[in-house]
Amino acid sequence: MMVKIGVLTSGGDSQGMNAAIYSVVKMAISKGHEVIGIQKGYYGVINKLFVSLKERNVDGIIHKGGTILQSARCEEFKTQEGQEKGIQNLRSEGIEHLIVIGGDGSYNGALALYKQGINTYGLPGTIDNDIPLTDYTIGFDTTVNIVTNLINNIRDTSSSHERTSVIEVMGRNCGDIALHAGLGCGVDAVIIPEFPHSIEDICKRIESGFKKGKKCGIVIVAEGAGSAIELAKTLQEKTGLEVRGTVLGHIQRGGYPSNFDRLFTIRLASKVMELIEGDIAGVALGIENNEITYHKIEKVLKSKNQKKEEYYEMVNILSI
Ligand code: ADP
Ligand code: F6P
Repeated sequence: MMVKIGVLTSGGDSQGMNAAIYSVVKMAISKGHEVIGIQKGYYGVINKLFVSLKERNVDGIIHKGGTILQSARCEEFKTQEGQEKGIQNLRSEGIEHLIVIGGDGSYNGALALYKQGINTYGLPGTIDNDIPLTDYTIGFDTTVNIVTNLINNIRDTSSSHERTSVIEVMGRNCGDIALHAGLGCGVDAVIIPEFPHSIEDICKRIESGFKKGKKCGIVIVAEGAGSAIELAKTLQEKTGLEVRGTVLGHIQRGGYPSNFDRLFTIRLASKVMELIEGDIAGVALGIENNEITYHKIEKVLKSKNQKKEEYYEMVNILSI
């Protein structure tokens, strides 16, 4: 049976959101469904920013960063009144199925809609990798690769000057970007919100690194665990070494998505079509052990993030 499917992107954008829109539109149309793009996340639901999406509208977007539908943070949608306005708009447009590409905040909106009769499906769109019950989120792999390359650049100049660099990366309250990029770059220390850290210990590691012949010191700090600029000052004061702080900022959230992220969205979109046809809704999709899986949104929101001990330990082992 042909259905009308709405799709929106919400919260902080991430690379691969366009690939997700592309995948949803092409998969849905190939099954005979109709797709309505909703601009600016939940703001567009409340304000009826609806556009018809045909296959030609998504040509040439699979490789683009950002989101052609744009994203927004919309406080009004957190209220019952805002949600009722949105539901009325979705119903009058004939949208019974809504695909929400966003982070856990956006999943709360999807859950509220589901409880009020809209069939919602969450796709994990955030660079932060902070959504439970999925090994990865859309954009995380791309961001880690960007950050990895940027750390390489900083290592080049730090080594030339025998300096220490403290590099701050995004992730909100999650340390995954810092941990994965830091491990892949063989850094001296990674500071993330999930584990306590000791400034004394980090100073010792940097000092002994130089004594053992290292050409530079590299410390990665997740934004949720501290500020690179402040930490650089503290490390310089305590060690007497030359320390620089760099905040990578939004440079890590743009650019073309990695092939992993693109294929991930294609597999997610294919699964959503199966769920729609199987009358399953109110779920969030993800990838676990390379299988595309889904769970009730409520369960995902109540679950804990994945464990990080193994990678964290490896950073410490490799920093000798
Ligand atoms: P992310 O989805 O990246 O975690 P946010 O936390 O900013 O980003 O959430 C995105 C949007 O989701 C919010 O601006 C709001 O419109 C909607 N949202 C967040 N929490 C709720 C909630 N409890 N109920 C309804 N909508 C919500
Ligand atoms: O959730 C994605 C994210 O990039 C976080 O890593 C970061 O804390 C936040 O969004 C930044 O938000 P904004 O783009 O509003 O500055």
